[in-house]
Amino acid sequence: MAHQKISFLRDVPSLRRQVAQWHREGLKVAVVPTMGALHDGHLNLVRRGFETADRVIATIFINPKQFAAHEDLGRYPRDEAGDLAKFTSVGTSAVFAPLAEVVYPAGFATSIHMEGPAKVGLEDAFRPQFFDGVATVVTKLFTQTAADYALFGEKDYQQLKVVSRMARDLDLPIEIVGVPTTREADGLAMSSRNAYLSAAERQVATAIYRTLNEAGAMIRAGANPAQGEGYGAAALSALGFKVDYVAARNAETLAKPTSAREPLRLLAAAWLDKTRLIDNIAV
Ligand code: PAJ
Repeated sequence: MAHQKISFLRDVPSLRRQVAQWHREGLKVAVVPTMGALHDGHLNLVRRGFETADRVIATIFINPKQFAAHEDLGRYPRDEAGDLAKFTSVGTSAVFAPLAEVVYPAGFATSIHMEGPAKVGLEDAFRPQFFDGVATVVTKLFTQTAADYALFGEKDYQQLKVVSRMARDLDLPIEIVGVPTTREADGLAMSSRNAYLSAAERQVATAIYRTLNEAGAMIRAGANPAQGEGYGAAALSALGFKVDYVAARNAETLAKPTSAREPLRLLAAAWLDKTRLIDNIAV
């Protein structure tokens, strides 16, 4: 990959000028939205972006609208200099890192509200402000960048499906691309929030992926989805997790399954002390 000089953008007019220039040159542009605190999962989205588009813009913005008051907005890891170095190392064309007052200037009064099976249930049952906050900021990032493609990780599978649904519903002129989950050598899905785990919790955390695989194998072997869910929740609880959900869903719509033959996704969210972890697998 030819490494272009990275451009660091803080405001929407310079972002728009940059993308307009690329589009005039006939180049396709992809956007990778992030909240920073980067790991290899994020960088793989950029790498995948270059397989689809000629230029990749990464965004860094810790979106206050998707955090509830009691959540970890205040302590969410921040490392802008480190993030810039990481994005540079994979050849990212531009980084857009707006301040909160650029994204939500005084008087900001609009929110994208979603319904339907992709949004309702799972994360939404535990974080009711989350997806409207994500949908609102992602729509702004799409219109600000005017990108042709946007890459989202399967790690946040429900988010991927919610954003895909929204882009279709609103006729947004952008194609959503899902990217498989990047994992640590022991299977734990990479996450900025893994930094919150103590050494002992970090060991136990591997059980999420292992348990999902065991429950998925049970379902593939003929157990009904509810039995797989029950097994998974019990196994994680026995290890000391506080389980928010272990749930089998239609892999496309995220509706509750009506038959064992439809394509399924098995999703889990569970707490280890003060850290909330999520993961999912194809069944
Ligand atoms: P963040 O948690 O920083 O994640 C940014 C993107 O990286 C998301 O698409 C997420 O699914 C992807 N990602 C994170 N960990 C991954 C992993 N281990 N493997 C593959 N992809 C991974 O998700 C958000 O930020 C925000 O909600 C955002 C979309 C930026 C809106 O504010």
